[in-house]
Amino acid sequence: MTSPTRIGIHDLAVATAGHVLDLDDLAAATGVDPGKFHIGLGQDQMSVPGPDEDIVTMGATAAQQIIARHGVDRIRTVFFATESGVDQSKSAGVWLHELLGLPSTSRVVELKQACYSATAALQAAAGLVARETDTQVLVVASDIARYDLDSAAEPTQGAGAVALLVSADPALAELEPVAGLHTAHVDDFWRPNDSVTAVVDGKLSIDAYLDGFVAAWDDYRTRGGVDIDEIDLFTHHQPFTRMAAKAHRRLAEHTGAELPAERYERSTVYNRRIGNSYTASLYLGLAALLDGDDDLTGRRIGLFSYGSGSVSEFFTVVVQPGYRDHTRASETAAALAARTPMDVAAYRALHAGAHLGSRVDVEIPAQSPWPFHFAGVSGRARQYSA
Ligand code: HMG
Repeated sequence: MTSPTRIGIHDLAVATAGHVLDLDDLAAATGVDPGKFHIGLGQDQMSVPGPDEDIVTMGATAAQQIIARHGVDRIRTVFFATESGVDQSKSAGVWLHELLGLPSTSRVVELKQACYSATAALQAAAGLVARETDTQVLVVASDIARYDLDSAAEPTQGAGAVALLVSADPALAELEPVAGLHTAHVDDFWRPNDSVTAVVDGKLSIDAYLDGFVAAWDDYRTRGGVDIDEIDLFTHHQPFTRMAAKAHRRLAEHTGAELPAERYERSTVYNRRIGNSYTASLYLGLAALLDGDDDLTGRRIGLFSYGSGSVSEFFTVVVQPGYRDHTRASETAAALAARTPMDVAAYRALHAGAHLGSRVDVEIPAQSPWPFHFAGVSGRARQYSA
């Protein structure tokens, strides 16, 4: 019998929006103690998209980095995970497929379940690669988190994308087979079809997240997942980075294990500056761990994925020998530095301009520093330029 093929994350690239709001400025404008944002929520900044940016442009900007390194020939599937979809019918991935010149011999589909769907995409990708080990799957997770102005959730907005190349013999991290799952209906957070902002019950959402975490953990152990002492590091879905601290503490209480903060803290460095990026957030946490100074070769990382509504999954990856030759810390640092700082008035004007309308033709000039732009609407169809 041949040994089973190792399958996992071969490459991981990050993108974010073109503007940035410092939360000190939001605190000053709203009369809030900045400590509430920095310490209470664990957030320093949030990325804000300009008029020519959306989930397609951010996703394509992340994925282009992967294609520049690996080409497109082995990609037969594109999964686009998002909860800020731009069309009720067409997958955002089809626009991305065209912008990136991906092979016509590929399947493209969008997946939705709040912040969770990138994890469903990753697991489905692993299944497809197991069946055809010479192929690769491009998983894109891209989102804009928008809440009402002056709401408690306003400082937890953000925008970002990741692209993951899933393949056999992965260079970064092998996906282990056991996963713990939990689904429970709860009205903690959702976005109705006629709204650009999410509806949220903040306190309920925190409880639902933590309950989902321990339930997914218990299922993980029931299914044969390793003991907590065999997991070296953790990263979690981070709607705001303090949520990772709450999750880590809850798991320690639930298992009775000693879990010092060093086992997750490094995973928060990108999310602190980008804000909530919904589906991308967990994988920004993974990127932050891999980009850190410590050599993680052979280390097992536990990942907790949560999507309101709600679906939870806990699973693990093992960091591969030589992974440091394949990480992208400098590209991500450059993307964060390329954002244009904006004041609260400019951010609020952009927020007010966000809409779902398609009935009026509009041309939007390219202005973000990234390679792809939302160019407007013509005949009710979205247009993009490169
Ligand atoms: P709030 O009412 O501003 O919260 O809403 P608060 O008054 O409880 O303050 C938050 C923390 O700041 C508290 O600490 C305060 O003590 C502390 P905690 O009790 O949590 O330990 N604080 C301070 N700390 C230092 N210095 C100060 C200070 N003042 C207060 N001066 C909430 C917070 C997160 C609820 C709100 O921002 C919200 O509704 N956010 C959106 C919902 C959310 O992110 N939920 C998270 C779980 S659900 C999830 O992750 C899914 C999601 O990503 C969507 C999806 O799945 O698609 C949202």
